[in-house]
Amino acid sequence: MPESTLVAIAMLLLIAAIAESKSTIEPCANSDSCNALVGYTLYADLKVSEVAALFQIDPIALLTANSIDISYADVENHILPSQLFVKIPIICSCVDGIRKSVSTRYKTRPSDTLGSIADSVYGGLVSGDQIREANGNLVTDPSVLDVGMSLVVPLPCTCFNSSDNFLPAVYLSYVVREMDSLAGIAARYYTTVTDLMNVNAMGSVAVKEGDIISVPLPACASNFPRYASDFALLVPNGSYAITASHCVQCSCGPGNLNLYCTPASLAVSCSSMQCKNSNLMLGNVTAQPSSAGCNVTTCSYGGFVNGTILTT
Ligand SMILES: *[C@@H]1O[C@H](CO)[C@@H](O)[C@H](O)[C@H]1NC(C)=O
Ligand SMILES: *[C@@H]1O[C@H](CO)[C@@H](O)[C@H](O)[C@H]1NC(C)=O
Ligand SMILES: *[C@@H]1O[C@H](CO)[C@@H](O)[C@H](O)[C@H]1NC(C)=O
Ligand SMILES: *[C@@H]1O[C@H](CO)[C@@H](O)[C@H](O)[C@H]1NC(C)=O
Ligand SMILES: *[C@@H]1O[C@H](CO)[C@@H](O)[C@H](O)[C@H]1NC(C)=O
Repeated sequence: MPESTLVAIAMLLLIAAIAESKSTIEPCANSDSCNALVGYTLYADLKVSEVAALFQIDPIALLTANSIDISYADVENHILPSQLFVKIPIICSCVDGIRKSVSTRYKTRPSDTLGSIADSVYGGLVSGDQIREANGNLVTDPSVLDVGMSLVVPLPCTCFNSSDNFLPAVYLSYVVREMDSLAGIAARYYTTVTDLMNVNAMGSVAVKEGDIISVPLPACASNFPRYASDFALLVPNGSYAITASHCVQCSCGPGNLNLYCTPASLAVSCSSMQCKNSNLMLGNVTAQPSSAGCNVTTCSYGGFVNGTILTT
């Protein structure tokens, strides 16, 4: 082959590589899963319940993941403005040896295309090709989608053992925007450029619009027993979670990364949240001077087992 042809081929490969968005892939072996987040920018004004429906998640989980107060009346009908950035809590599974979330389904509407669903409705978290592949033979002609089809929308996610530098972490899949730099993303999420490069196996700090990177968010870990239904609850710094059938609220940060649980404001009919042999309620801390210094007694949440709120 003449040298000029080789150069031309090399140039084409380079252009193809530049044009293609990168995303971080985590291989996985077993059928375990973890909690993860995807960063999503609203394509229109949407109610809280509509955003939750788009990802088939509990509206309360959407609100708590974004530290929005849930005690307002009618909070699910609250309208979130177009272009608002929110974190969506998802379950990250292991599918065909790769981490991804496959619990989201989208019902097609008139004039949808795979491209508009991917780029607009799901904000670039997925590509049209990935939606087509995830739905096997369902999409025969990608240029014409039947109205009312239920399409699987695979979403990027990573678990990385729910830890970062040996500390508990939840991973956020972040779609890089035009104005972003790696340093800016690191600063925004209280991490470092080096950490982001390690996590995403990056050779340089260059990122471009549309790339999807995994951002580790420091989190508060729980130590509930394995048989608790909220075993391994992990709450990212600066947010909270509602657990135990909406009875208990557990928050993380900002001062330290110790999970702190109290009765939830929406608690309706809940089992007792008083610690045994004391008059302390979940979340109460008392300190009394004693011969050995200070005697601190806390009433902490210990997990949700068979409808019972464990306290310690
Ligand atoms: C996963 O994290 C746990 C603690 O969170 C640690 O004990 C374990 O060694 C880690 N496993 C791997 C493979 O990194
Ligand atoms: C947790 O978030 C707060 C801000 O909400 C921040 O000041 C603090 O440094 C964060 N902690 C960690 C360990 O990242
Ligand atoms: C104990 O916790 C309950 C519920 O959060 C709270 O209403 C009460 O004020 C707390 N009491 C003390 C002494 O901290
Ligand atoms: C600390 O206080 C608790 C309850 O207030 C009491 O049951 C316990 O005996 C005290 N421990 C010490 C070492 O004083
Ligand atoms: C939960 O309840 C079921 C049936 O009542 C029982 O078989 C099981 O042992 C209980 N689990 C725990 C952890 O108590």
